[in-house]
Amino acid sequence: MNAETPIPHRARRPAAPLAGTIAVPGDKSISHRALMFAGLAIGETRITGLLEGEDVLRTAAAMRALGAEVARLDDGAWLVAGPGLGALRSPDDVLDMGNSGTAARLLCGILASHDIFAVMTGDASLRRRPMRRVIEPLAATGAGFAARPGGRLPLAVTGAAEPLPLSYRLPVASAQVKSALLLAGLNARGVTEIEEPEPTRDHSENMLRHFGASIDIHTQGTGRLIRLRGQPELRAADIVVPGDPSSAAFPIVAALLIPGSRITIEGVGLNKLRTGLFATLREMGADITVINAREAAGEKVGDLIVAASALRGVDVPADRAPSMIDEYPILAIACAFARGPSRLRGLAELRVKESDRLAATTDMLRANGASVAIEGDDLVIVGGANRLGGGLVTTQMDHRLAMSALVLGLAADAPVTIDDARFIDTSFPGFIPLMRSLGADIAAEGAPA
Ligand code: S3P
Repeated sequence: MNAETPIPHRARRPAAPLAGTIAVPGDKSISHRALMFAGLAIGETRITGLLEGEDVLRTAAAMRALGAEVARLDDGAWLVAGPGLGALRSPDDVLDMGNSGTAARLLCGILASHDIFAVMTGDASLRRRPMRRVIEPLAATGAGFAARPGGRLPLAVTGAAEPLPLSYRLPVASAQVKSALLLAGLNARGVTEIEEPEPTRDHSENMLRHFGASIDIHTQGTGRLIRLRGQPELRAADIVVPGDPSSAAFPIVAALLIPGSRITIEGVGLNKLRTGLFATLREMGADITVINAREAAGEKVGDLIVAASALRGVDVPADRAPSMIDEYPILAIACAFARGPSRLRGLAELRVKESDRLAATTDMLRANGASVAIEGDDLVIVGGANRLGGGLVTTQMDHRLAMSALVLGLAADAPVTIDDARFIDTSFPGFIPLMRSLGADIAAEGAPA
């Protein structure tokens, strides 16, 4: 973040229901990948709907520093022209990936498989996050890594001049790790094989096919085996980035919780490895309808109509976590308003997100009167009993906590204040004005209502 001073905000229940039609910004995962894969392809790729959030702008800057041409056109589209696979150059300066774990981890795959030297850092949140999960498998390409103790940023990479293909079984379900290895495998001679014990978002696989790579995916037990033939001729191919389902989650839950609301969200990505939240909310009794289902650049898209609904508690199985890993803070808010207990299972990975989201979600709910407990790796919330709201939420450099807390304030009996709204821009620039356009009452603390 550039500005030094935190900007507190307050949300309270609006006088009228939420209503209207909106579109949410482009998908963050797909936007990072679009810039990276286009930068490795031959020719010029036009990207429309790119998320222009802080995280993705860091990836754009990094790709530029590695020798790709990346430009924003006046009509809002982005043009990327790469020097081609294998032809990236060492950046002149340290690559600063800001708040973005996806940018940092995926980029490690590109750096490891090019004959270059690079140093990478990030903000205080990113410098706390584990990088060993990519460093260890990527070292087998022949690349050298030096990082702070615990595998934390800053780290230095000496890429392999002739990277070896990888064969690796992921110990944790992580699309970031899988994608880092696929990116490394692109520039290796031979076949890279990755086994994932549970399916995770497959945007990298979809985009590789879109750019003409040869990739096979086989179902194997509960997971998948992915095989990528290295050194393909990646050809530029235009990309339309769908709206981010993880961003749509916030207006969706707000509309479900504020009585009488009815909103439409156009052009939301509906890749089934991303829509665990929608399935869960439906199990809770949510009225969410998909219309105009279609496909864009290898990804499913549709418009969502959401109407306020009386929700009941839910038991979410651990194997659903990869398809909704970023949605637990906002799901926890829905659970706090639902009738009866909810159990959200198998959330160990939440401890290593932009913040420790398991602890931070618990603190956010508790500070606002909800009944919540961590039991092992599960989050248990008993909804419907208490008056909610009135608390101050410390957002810990975490955009999703900030937005979740504001949605809590919109539905609660008393207003909710967050200490800092700046990090929302990492994934959802324009969140507050967009919510206000639907009728939400969110304002900077101290500003006239
Ligand atoms: C992402 C994968 C997930 C998710 C993150 C984006 C991606 O992380 O939390 O916001 O784009 O691949 P993990 O791979 O660590 O689960």
